[in-house]
Amino acid sequence: MLNYRLIDPPREPEKFVKAAVQFLHKYARDKKVFCALSGGIDSSLTYLLLKKANINTIPVFIDHGLMRIIREVEEREYIKKLFPDIMILDIREQFLPKILGEGDAEKKRHLFKDAYSETISTVIREEACDLLADGTILPDIEESFGVKITDLKESMTIEEELLLKKKHKQGFVKSQHNVEIEYDVKATIQPVASLTKNEVRKVLEYFNMPQELVYRKAFPGPALAARIIGPVTYDNLNFEKKVHDLVESSVEDFYKEKYGKTMVINQNGEQEPFQVFAAISEDILNKKVTGLVDGKRIYEIPLSDSGKWDFKKLTKKASKIKGYARVLYKLGSNPEGQYDVVIRSINSIDARTASVTHLPIDLLNNITQEILNISKTNAVFFDVTPKPPATIEYV
Ligand code: XMP
Repeated sequence: MLNYRLIDPPREPEKFVKAAVQFLHKYARDKKVFCALSGGIDSSLTYLLLKKANINTIPVFIDHGLMRIIREVEEREYIKKLFPDIMILDIREQFLPKILGEGDAEKKRHLFKDAYSETISTVIREEACDLLADGTILPDIEESFGVKITDLKESMTIEEELLLKKKHKQGFVKSQHNVEIEYDVKATIQPVASLTKNEVRKVLEYFNMPQELVYRKAFPGPALAARIIGPVTYDNLNFEKKVHDLVESSVEDFYKEKYGKTMVINQNGEQEPFQVFAAISEDILNKKVTGLVDGKRIYEIPLSDSGKWDFKKLTKKASKIKGYARVLYKLGSNPEGQYDVVIRSINSIDARTASVTHLPIDLLNNITQEILNISKTNAVFFDVTPKPPATIEYV
């Protein structure tokens, strides 16, 4: 199998699109291309480029049941509105029973990888696709290979890539990148491989896509399973979907009101907020969650703080934490509840490091009240830990 990547194109959107169309014509002009859309910005741009280049494309969205709800609309319906010709593959009935009960984070990730790979391979076979287009972007490549993208060639075989990875890759971070899944196609094609997240947003703006897509918050491959600590159940999944939507949309509304858009570039060049979500667990203060020490993942319990709200002091304390994975600032509780909810909002350039979004305490208190109104909420926390020493997700 081969991988084709557009290496080092011009970054100005109009010139980029021209270069990407030329690249797609070079490798895919008379081919049938499979394109999986995840709902996120990278795969959406990949699809728009294929359309712009008039490539024969099969666009697919997989719903395994753990996708988020966006403003009370399931993501599959949301994406269908944006891209009406998309094919929705509903694998909820087969997939959910497989993941229910699995508590181990890495095993959960593998279940997703297997499900994506099986579903995608079936469509590729049925539709006799020659190529698979994906939205791999710059940080995925550089993290996965351990080299700069300009050290790669436009066309590489899997064998060449494995050799390169072996030579440069140090230390396991997590098995998260879809770049490592192999499919039954002659080649993959990656037109946005040289772009950063913010560059992807700029090209989407050039395509006049709606702001809700341009500023869409990144979402992990293992979906809400990455935000439910421990085993997924129908009950906690239902709860997570509700609080996730509440947290994400409340913070987006706050930004929209304050800045006219749901994401800004702050003075450190970070997208603010880059990701905002709710993670849930029963008895979170006794659950091991992930941290990042010297580039390696660790699993420790979090520390709760319920002192006076002082954002600077709390984030500083959290940045030096030892023996615990994170510091969670307690916002409220209901002793009869079952699930603890952590509000996580971070700013970042590319998810490799992240700072905590300085949200006003009034906003956090309001969100807390709304979360406490949802039955089964036990306690609500705000995670004040940057990455490192924490990771963005909890698994
Ligand atoms: P962490 O939690 O490692 O996350 O700080 C860094 C970025 O990667 C996303 N993430 C994942 N993406 N599969 C994915 O496709 C995964 O298993 C996975 N885990 C984390 C996370 O949302 C953040 O943007």
